Amino acid sequence: MLSRAYSPYSKFRVGAAVETRSGRIFAGCNVENASLGLTICAERAAVCAAVAAGEREFLRVVIVTSTGRLTPPCGACRQFMKEFSPKMAVIMMAGRRSKRTSLETLLPGSFGSGLLVQRGE
Ligand code: THU
Repeated sequence: MLSRAYSPYSKFRVGAAVETRSGRIFAGCNVENASLGLTICAERAAVCAAVAAGEREFLRVVIVTSTGRLTPPCGACRQFMKEFSPKMAVIMMAGRRSKRTSLETLLPGSFGSGLLVQRGE
């Protein structure tokens, strides 16, 4: 995925893979755009590929970047992944090093669908 990243503006390559509860793996890379705000992160690309294939439950995500440093997911991606699997594991990898944490740890007290329910409905 790192080699497929389209990141001519930041030169920062990101690759991500999610494993579904059913054991399937879907990968994604960051895709930038000249209109910078349209950039799609690798994690969200991977989740979208999985959802498009009918998968909505994730056990873990693995994230790698071109920097050789352990890199956590951005806030938008944390919220995006939380939509489907709030308890999933988050694994950052850099060469032979890796660090494992959880979405609950990275995004405490987050917004979620349960808060959308209106009184009286
Ligand atoms: N990026 C990701 O792909 N995932 C993250 O969690 C953080 C940032 C990308 C977006 C952009 O293409 C580049 O990294 C620099 O921000």
